[in-house]
Amino acid sequence: MEFKNLLLEISESVAVLTVNRPQSLNALNSELLNELECAFYQLELDPEVKVLVVTGAGEKAFVAGADIKEMATMTPPDAHRFALKGQRVLLALEKMKKPVIAAVNGYALGGGLELALACDFLYASESAKLGFPEVTLGIMPGFGGTQNLARLIGPKRANELIFSGKMIPAQKAEGWGVVNEVFPAQELLAKTLECARAIASQGTIGIGYAKDAIAHGLDMAKEDGFRYEAALFGVLFGTADQKEGMAAFVEKRKANFRSN
Ligand code: HXC
Repeated sequence: MEFKNLLLEISESVAVLTVNRPQSLNALNSELLNELECAFYQLELDPEVKVLVVTGAGEKAFVAGADIKEMATMTPPDAHRFALKGQRVLLALEKMKKPVIAAVNGYALGGGLELALACDFLYASESAKLGFPEVTLGIMPGFGGTQNLARLIGPKRANELIFSGKMIPAQKAEGWGVVNEVFPAQELLAKTLECARAIASQGTIGIGYAKDAIAHGLDMAKEDGFRYEAALFGVLFGTADQKEGMAAFVEKRKANFRSN
């Protein structure tokens, strides 16, 4: 499918999806949300793709939020629908079986930070700034940010960030556990791809199940999570990946996983 606001490049089992509206600092309008939704479904089904990297076009922004110019004239029902739509799209990203890494190359604000938080983990450039400036517009986060941020860093830090509207540098976000690692801007994509390719070379089904166990386990009582983990662990022993991975170890060679 052809996208107007997205660039998609696939190589060595890694897809790089770039939000591409640099003239608006990659702000998410309705059209872009529709395209993201199509892209996520397409990438989930594409057997060539094992890992997804999400980033923003240009040097300044990952995504500077939902499109304020589009939102400015929305009625309450319009705004409600817009929030539900964004949540649906970002939940589709969160629920992808394939691992997703955000390469936060600049401003990740409002809906842009919500997009990054929907990814499995974040790498960021030294110049990136993260925040929820919605209160400066008289609104609040609406694409899942209140829920995901508070669950990730706890309500105290989430309250501070969301109530103040202030932006924090990538280094501080790393200290809070929002960003996994910070790289010089010119190295960010290469470092992200290096990690994505390393993940892509592992057993895809095991990674998908681990992602499932981590995500669903957090919503369960711990012992239920343990039971779920053990059940998925057992299922993996019926896969070609398990046979290949363990045979490779015994034969002292590198595993060649073929499944996806
Ligand atoms: C629409 C945006 C935009 C946005 C930037 N632009 N952010 N357009 N929506 N979120 C546009 C500007 O209008 C401008 O275009 C161009 O991008 C460059 O931006 P500047 O402001 O000139 O750049 P700069 O001075 O460097 O400032 C960068 C910035 C600032 C600090 C990131 O752009 C900014 O504060 N942007 C808004 C950030 C924000 O509040 N995000 C949260 C949105 S609410 P023109 O053509 O005008 O020159 C949200 C809610 C999500 O995300 C949930 C919804 C349900």
